[in-house]
Amino acid sequence: MTQTEHIVALVTGATGGLGTHMVKRLIHDGYRVIANYRSPQKAEEWFAEMKKEGYEPYMYQADVADYEEVGKMVEKIHNEIGVIDILVNNAGITRDMAFRKMGPESWDIVMKTNLYSVFNCCSHVIGPMVDQLYGRIINISSVNAQRAQFGQVNYAAAKAGMHGFTKTLAVEVARKGITVNTISPGYIATDMVLAVAEEVREQIIKGIPMGRLGGTDEIAHLVSFLASEEAAFITGANYAINGGQHVY
Ligand code: CAA
Repeated sequence: MTQTEHIVALVTGATGGLGTHMVKRLIHDGYRVIANYRSPQKAEEWFAEMKKEGYEPYMYQADVADYEEVGKMVEKIHNEIGVIDILVNNAGITRDMAFRKMGPESWDIVMKTNLYSVFNCCSHVIGPMVDQLYGRIINISSVNAQRAQFGQVNYAAAKAGMHGFTKTLAVEVARKGITVNTISPGYIATDMVLAVAEEVREQIIKGIPMGRLGGTDEIAHLVSFLASEEAAFITGANYAINGGQHVY
């Protein structure tokens, strides 16, 4: 019997590179972990792989960009599992291109998936968290919220928006036992980063003082720490984890 086994953790965009490791780590920590996904087909394959490795998170579908869909998912989770105690807003996409080529579709989908999603999920979980005087909200931003990256005007705007959101919500709910923090990963070995053209990626890695990409386990470790009881006094903070690529 662990102290965490009654605590419910929801990870959005769980089937991606970072999300997968977060789910594994939070299961190791003893939480009841819910994996949110958008694409049923990908989720089915992902769950089969996870199961082979001994992980069986609860699976809940919703496009986090859609306020109503998130509301239905959260209601279902509350009815079937319980109040969400830990929310990790991890879902995110890129539509990288020079700004001169960027149309409103690429702007909208990145803003909706990466930033509106944070509003959508927090909006639906915050009431029960306030009622129970306990909660952990962890928003996954990016090093590129604070440094410039050619081709990422939409992504940088959304990820930077998370910081303002985090700081203000943290202050609003500080007396309700809820912490709200941001993690800003640098370049981590995920499909998203591996999709960047090799020569561009090599250049980027040269600019990382540690000379390597980060590991998904390294981000998951930080999520685990911020979710823990011991992190109760940390709120409104941004944790940079980027191998020294951007220090401030
Ligand atoms: N630096 C300076 N100039 C650049 C450039 C760069 N990195 N990339 C392109 N340009 C220039 C080109 O030379 C070209 O110049 P001219 O108009 O004078 O000819 C102009 O910009 C347009 O170039 P492209 O037609 O190649 O631009 P594009 O719209 O096709 O896209 C890009 C360029 C593919 C986005 C490229 O810049 C790129 O790969 N950038 C890296 C994006 C990146 O790091 N993404 C991270 C993804 S992972 C992630 O986001 C996780 C995380 O949080 C860290």
